[in-house]
Amino acid sequence: SDKGQENIFYHVSKLTREKRAAALGQRGAFRGSTVWLTGLSGAGKSTVAFALEEYIVSKGLPAYCLDGDNIRCGLNKNLGFSDTDRVENIRRIAEVAKLFADAGLMCIVAFISPFVEDRECARKLHEDSQIPFIEVFVNTPLSVCEERDTKGLYHKARQGLLKNFTGIDAPYQAPAHPEVIIDTSIISIDRSIEMIIGKLAERNVLS
Ligand code: PPS
Repeated sequence: SDKGQENIFYHVSKLTREKRAAALGQRGAFRGSTVWLTGLSGAGKSTVAFALEEYIVSKGLPAYCLDGDNIRCGLNKNLGFSDTDRVENIRRIAEVAKLFADAGLMCIVAFISPFVEDRECARKLHEDSQIPFIEVFVNTPLSVCEERDTKGLYHKARQGLLKNFTGIDAPYQAPAHPEVIIDTSIISIDRSIEMIIGKLAERNVLS
């Protein structure tokens, strides 16, 4: 190939997950997993994600939040909001989340991630490596997100000053079978976290 892929040899680590977990002081159990939040801008993904991170860390377990706005300032600062760039944005984050989770962290991902196919790729990437993947649909209605308009972006999009804005003139494909559905206009952040924690407990990555 033009990228020389045929000269790259994947090295399989001999370290077991249990050994990594022990080194992280996780009482021997492996907690590596990914919680993937998807939903419209302003739906509450970041709020839930950072609150969940704080909760897990307060329990003495390592968690790390990957948030769209933050990652777009660094790793993905060369990407915009065309379909192609969003696909690449999510592809990279799925890979990074898997690395974090494989290293033993509970990785919390908060990106709009508007396309079903990309989220399914992220799921497969994890499940192929036996890493728990929990998809959380932050299903706050568009009308509420637009009403909140915390960053003034819906207003700009309605005025035509911002193109390709998700929910206005760019698509959002809702998940068909998410593990958790949260509507932050009717349930509290604490309740949202309880619901996610419940799923994590079912998958034996908490406790
Ligand atoms: S995506 O679709 O998953 O690649 O988007 P993401 O990386 O999560 O970035 C979404 C945040 O970028 C801001 N923003 C936009 N969102 C959607 N469409 C357009 N055109 C756009 N331009 C800027 C917006 O603040 C999103 O933040 P959140 O946290 O989702 O509200």
